Amino acid sequence: MSDDSISDPDRRRRQVVVGLCLLGGGVGAARYLTESPGPPAGNPVSGEFSDLPPGELRVLDWQGRTLWILRRTAEEVMALADHESGLIDPHSEHSLQPENCRNRHRSLRPDIFVAIGQCTHQGCTPQLRGGAGAHREFLCPCHTSKFDLAGRVFRAGPAPANLAIPAYRLEGDSGLVIGEG
Ligand code: FES
Repeated sequence: MSDDSISDPDRRRRQVVVGLCLLGGGVGAARYLTESPGPPAGNPVSGEFSDLPPGELRVLDWQGRTLWILRRTAEEVMALADHESGLIDPHSEHSLQPENCRNRHRSLRPDIFVAIGQCTHQGCTPQLRGGAGAHREFLCPCHTSKFDLAGRVFRAGPAPANLAIPAYRLEGDSGLVIGEG
């Protein structure tokens, strides 16, 4: 089903269902989903990524949550199309993100990926693995769920949904405001 064929009320209902499923999976992962059935928002903070080289991951704390800013290489953005048959929700129809991030790269800019670094199974923090030039992904150390570089979850592993993307907006060429769209 294409994104355009889903009405807003249907989309909202699906997000609530995902939130309830995750509640069964763990309190940590469900916290941001049950507070609101939309993407995490609130307490806006500004950030910069002009000093973040391609391939680098920045880890921040935002409202007590792990927040990632990953600058993907052009090759990594292209590679997001290569493994979609192995994903649970390749088009992010059942996952939490702002509407303007419901795309293959799940971001406003293809190179800049912003996400809550909290596994949708039981809330552990996945780790980025793989080196320069090699295939990279996020691996959850708790029960081995894997996510691609757009936070989309692979079928193997218990996590039921893609990583959540918070509300955010871009400011100029190299600024971000996280927490408001
Ligand atoms: Fe269980 Fe991540 S917390 S796989």
